[in-house]
Amino acid sequence: MKNIVIISSSIRNKSNSEILARQALQGALESGNHAELITLKDKDIRFCKGCLACQKTMKCVIKDDVSEILEKVKSADTIVFVTPIYYYELSGQLKTLLDRLNPLYPQKYSFRDVYLMTTSAEEGDEVVETAVGGLKGWIACFDKARFAGVFNGGGVNDANEVSGREDMLKAAYEFGKSIETPLS
Ligand SMILES: Cc1cc2nc3c(=O)[nH]c(=O)nc-3n(C[C@H](O)[C@H](O)[C@H](O)COP(=O)(O)O)c2cc1C
Repeated sequence: MKNIVIISSSIRNKSNSEILARQALQGALESGNHAELITLKDKDIRFCKGCLACQKTMKCVIKDDVSEILEKVKSADTIVFVTPIYYYELSGQLKTLLDRLNPLYPQKYSFRDVYLMTTSAEEGDEVVETAVGGLKGWIACFDKARFAGVFNGGGVNDANEVSGREDMLKAAYEFGKSIETPLS
């Protein structure tokens, strides 16, 4: 049994990536894990100021919703970051959160496997390549963590479009179910 934290970063209503994230959550729960989905939709998350105070104090000077998310990320075994592809990259919301997790850098953390789930209008491995690279940059700063794979939800654009894609819904559920097995 793993402690899995799924972080959904789209703030769009009826977000495709959040719908897939919820499928993955269901799969993860049904295989007996402790799993939780956090959406950034209703969260107050401000930009990192770059002061680096956190490297000494292990706390951020900004008081917003990140501290609660950070504690959950810190104690998770597995993290699944979920993002719509924006200009072939991670969403700004997710990048902002990754920067704000900087107080974790000098701390002990439990997470090992880090996955990425994406949705995008276009399909193909190349659509997610830069976003995967961005996340790998974050993971590279956490020695004990590793990139465990990407769930590429390409080919959906309109809000809620993925609800009509049984194949993708099922694949996301199966992904959640098999989360202990790294994706290729
Ligand atoms: C600002 C912006 C940039 C986007 N850039 C891309 C892109 O580079 N490639 C792509 O295939 N889709 C792109 N899209 C489409 C979204 O990735 C797509 O609509 C996705 O399903 C949104 O997921 P969501 O509903 O979870 O927010 C972009 C959408 C927006 C709003």
